[in-house]
Amino acid sequence: MCGIVGYVGMRSAQQVLLDGLEKLEYRGYDSAGVALTQRDGIRVVKSKGRLSTLRSKLEELALPQSGCGIGHTRWATHGEPSETNAHPHCTDDKSVVLVHNGIIENYQELKAKLLRSGYTFYSQTDTEVAVKLVDYYYKKTGTPLEAISRAMLRIRGSYAFGVIFKDYPGKLFAARKDSPLIIGKSENGSLIASDVPAILDQTRRVYYIGNLEIAELSRDEIHFYNIDREEIEKDVVEIQWDAAAAEKGGYEHFMLKEIHEQPKAVQDTIGAYVKEGHIDFSETGLTDEKLASLKRIYIIACGSAYHVGMVGKYVIESMAKIPVEVDVASEFRYRDPILVADSMVVIISQSGETADSLAALRLAKDRNVPVLSVVNVVGSSIARESDYTLYTYAGPEISVATTKAYSTQLIAMYLLAIQSAFVQGKLEEGKVTRLLAEMETLPDKISRVLDDKERIQWFASKYANAHDIFFIGRGIDYAISMEGSLKMKEISYIHSEAYAAGELKHGTISLVEDGTLVIGVMTQKDLFEKTLSNMVEVKSRGAYLMGLTSYGNYSIEDTADFSVYVPKTEKYFTTSLAIVPLQLMGYYVSVAK
Ligand code: F6R
Repeated sequence: MCGIVGYVGMRSAQQVLLDGLEKLEYRGYDSAGVALTQRDGIRVVKSKGRLSTLRSKLEELALPQSGCGIGHTRWATHGEPSETNAHPHCTDDKSVVLVHNGIIENYQELKAKLLRSGYTFYSQTDTEVAVKLVDYYYKKTGTPLEAISRAMLRIRGSYAFGVIFKDYPGKLFAARKDSPLIIGKSENGSLIASDVPAILDQTRRVYYIGNLEIAELSRDEIHFYNIDREEIEKDVVEIQWDAAAAEKGGYEHFMLKEIHEQPKAVQDTIGAYVKEGHIDFSETGLTDEKLASLKRIYIIACGSAYHVGMVGKYVIESMAKIPVEVDVASEFRYRDPILVADSMVVIISQSGETADSLAALRLAKDRNVPVLSVVNVVGSSIARESDYTLYTYAGPEISVATTKAYSTQLIAMYLLAIQSAFVQGKLEEGKVTRLLAEMETLPDKISRVLDDKERIQWFASKYANAHDIFFIGRGIDYAISMEGSLKMKEISYIHSEAYAAGELKHGTISLVEDGTLVIGVMTQKDLFEKTLSNMVEVKSRGAYLMGLTSYGNYSIEDTADFSVYVPKTEKYFTTSLAIVPLQLMGYYVSVAK
């Protein structure tokens, strides 16, 4: 995941950029670079590999102090990791220099046009096309603002840009479409960043730059423009995170820290919407009348958030008897979906910026279907463009592999299910009270699962060399398996698949051989025996079995080689507990590797 930082002000830009980029290192990168304005032009310094290499290179160069610059950490998408492909990219005479996050979809077409106009290209990146396109219009118009806006009109895709011009040494320009970027104002200057942690040391006062908008920053002033270059007013927003949220706080990794923050995150999210034993959605804008009118719900999301949607489907259909369709956003947006009357689209997104989810939201709005978003980042694009927003209270999630945001999204699904069921007359008040009371015990129960982490760490260390890991389950347990499997493959790089337990025998079981680890998730009483019989099937092929169930289901030990138990809870809420050992498994296998 690439990172952007830019600064113009009284401090050393080099220092501010390197410190900011360091704060974004957790997102992963393969090369880094900065561009700094100097008395005689712009100096671009890049390196492959760690930021410390770039830092040493800059120390050796000992450039005169600069008050303006842009920096970038790159995760290769177009072209291999190399110094040439690293950002910033610039024109041959370094008169225009640019950093970019996102993907320019029509870069081949733009490159062909620029080649015809005499431009030469050195890298394999789409970003080099962007900077040369800005230069092309700069040469035509002579003003940075017009050059950037005209380039934006030509570009298809997503981008957050930071741009500096040799002719404007005290100015920094930024523009965005569908890629995150914030603009900050500190005591000593102005900043841009792709993510909050990069500038939190400098300031908490930020502006959200909207889609197809441009910002012009100087030491003391920030101006915003729309694509027609008309000035627009924006309000400053105070970032509420405390600085500790962006630090590891004694944990070895952000992921482990955030796994441990789940009891609080879940508690805070319940606390925001459950008031005196009742669900209060007034903060979201969603009314009981709206929920009562719903005949169908479409849940759209990506990755882990999509897995939350799968749980949402089971819970909402079971409690409220409202049919729910769940789709991955990148499929939904391209498949001309049928959206019926009296329906609602629910978009789930931690960041609130995921491009496919945002596109799905816009598609729903174009079809006049109201959109509820379940979002963690306040003021993000998805939150801003939705009709109703149910914020989760996970706090900043720094780890790229989501854990605590996932857990708070589950709470959002339970609340939506309970309230819809209640206002649609499918759940009586006494049952609502009992469900909410049980939900409030979840933070303590998650803490109890975390107390057992050493056993999982021990077991995980034995599987660091595994080639394949299967997760199986039925119903809600299948949704949990999907998320457990994603966590495993995402961070440990071990091939892993989640299967609906009853489906495994229809072909895929041939991949299970002597010693293959199969993790059976069995939290649902009515499906326990069924999944257990699938475990027996894979055992006969030599699989090593880990069973995950609730305390009390000790018969699992007759079949499983290793068993993990989580506290008992209401059948709808089991995901909140069963996912925790699987997050820990993924984490500890990766650490052991
Ligand atoms: C996996 C993970 C991703 C995200 C997905 C959606 O650990 O974090 O699968 O869940 O990229 O991101 P958001 O929720 O920000 O839309």
